[in-house]
Amino acid sequence: MSFKNVGLFPIDTSVNSHGNLTIGGNDVTSLAEKYGTPLYVYDEVTIRTMARQFISEFTSRYSKTKVAYASKAFLNKSMAKIAYEENLELDVVSGGEIATAAAAGFPTAKMHFHGNNKTPQELTEAVSSGVETIVVDGFQELDLLNQIAQSLNVVQGIMLRLSPSIDAHTHGHTTTGILDVKFGFSIETGESSIAIRQALQSSNLDLKGIHFHLGSPIFELEPYSTAIDTVLEYLSQFTSEGLNLREFSPGGGFAIGYTQGNPPPPISSYAEVITSMLKTKCSDLGIDPPDLIIEPGRSIVGRAGVAVYTVGVIKEIPTVRTYVSLDGGMGDNIRPALYGSEYEAVLANKVLNSNKKTVTLAGKYCESGDLLVKDISLPHIDPGDIVAIPSSGAYCLAMSSNYNMNPRPAVVMVSEGKSRLIRKRETYKDLIALDL
Ligand code: LLP
Repeated sequence: MSFKNVGLFPIDTSVNSHGNLTIGGNDVTSLAEKYGTPLYVYDEVTIRTMARQFISEFTSRYSKTKVAYASKAFLNKSMAKIAYEENLELDVVSGGEIATAAAAGFPTAKMHFHGNNKTPQELTEAVSSGVETIVVDGFQELDLLNQIAQSLNVVQGIMLRLSPSIDAHTHGHTTTGILDVKFGFSIETGESSIAIRQALQSSNLDLKGIHFHLGSPIFELEPYSTAIDTVLEYLSQFTSEGLNLREFSPGGGFAIGYTQGNPPPPISSYAEVITSMLKTKCSDLGIDPPDLIIEPGRSIVGRAGVAVYTVGVIKEIPTVRTYVSLDGGMGDNIRPALYGSEYEAVLANKVLNSNKKTVTLAGKYCESGDLLVKDISLPHIDPGDIVAIPSSGAYCLAMSSNYNMNPRPAVVMVSEGKSRLIRKRETYKDLIALDL
């Protein structure tokens, strides 16, 4: 029996002579021993490879592409540094993300600030620190931002986020391009036309372009082409009113594999569909091709991250189910409980063992719904075994909490046989550090 990496684990994943899982040349059981569990292991080569793939697949088809990493997927100082080194721009959604990236030396002049309810303080900080683009989401923000820019004597570059009423068939919690959402100016209701005219008249705002984001993760290609077609067609009426479309963004949302039977389209397919529709439509409408901004988050870091846990209590309910409890759970990965997300798992210290049994991997949190993987077939499990869950690099730690006062996991970056701690495990002291 052998281990086959079907695109869920990091690129450099293998099994060593002890039958242990290795990532980036590091034995995962040794990492668990050295750094403790729960532990998030990120493979640097995979992150950098994905960043380069996005840049090359898009720029080879459409040279005027900027790839802005959606930092909400996973951000800390090391990740911001890698993004900068790989020539990515940054999609940020809070003052905290701006501050974190800036602390790592990421320039604000390459940041695109999103959000449906940016606070006055966040907007003021963003304008005064020179954030490249603010993606305006609503009328209150449009007014307020113009006033802030005026008071700071700045002309702020903006895009308007439109909502094109197109369903990308994602989970209901993560679909964003339909009419009934909190994000953006709706085309269907006519709000977007008023917003475009107002933005063009705003003394201290420079309307550089238009943005939309359909949802996440999007496994289909067709919603991107339909939306680009619809939005560009709609925008063409504003050329005579002074809209000079210099930037255009269909957002992010590119899918990754979570389970074996559900692979995502390759990046080249997303790139082909997006760039060919953009080129065709601009040429049909006689619009100068704008800069294309794409915002991948999950697809840059998702595959790079593996969650590593130690098995604790095993509870067998005869003829019903066997619960195998891990030392993490919904506090570090809320996605199964929140979206019903499915994951694969392996026993990192017994990858190739074959006497399989169906079990359910549960977390340690005080909720019956705290299950990480339901009904998975794994080799015989004993307490102390190490479980590794792939495709855990995006939106797990980013949405983590201290529920039940559990300290958050440590994060380690591996590369070519070496490992380095990039975020310490939280301590009990950290849990009370802000209490007065
Ligand atoms: N651009 C905008 C404007 C977005 O709102 C998002 C994600 C992205 C880009 C990046 O999408 P990605 O390429 O990562 O799919 N917590 C959810 C995902 C929420 C995504 C929110 N916005 C999850 O765990 O699946």
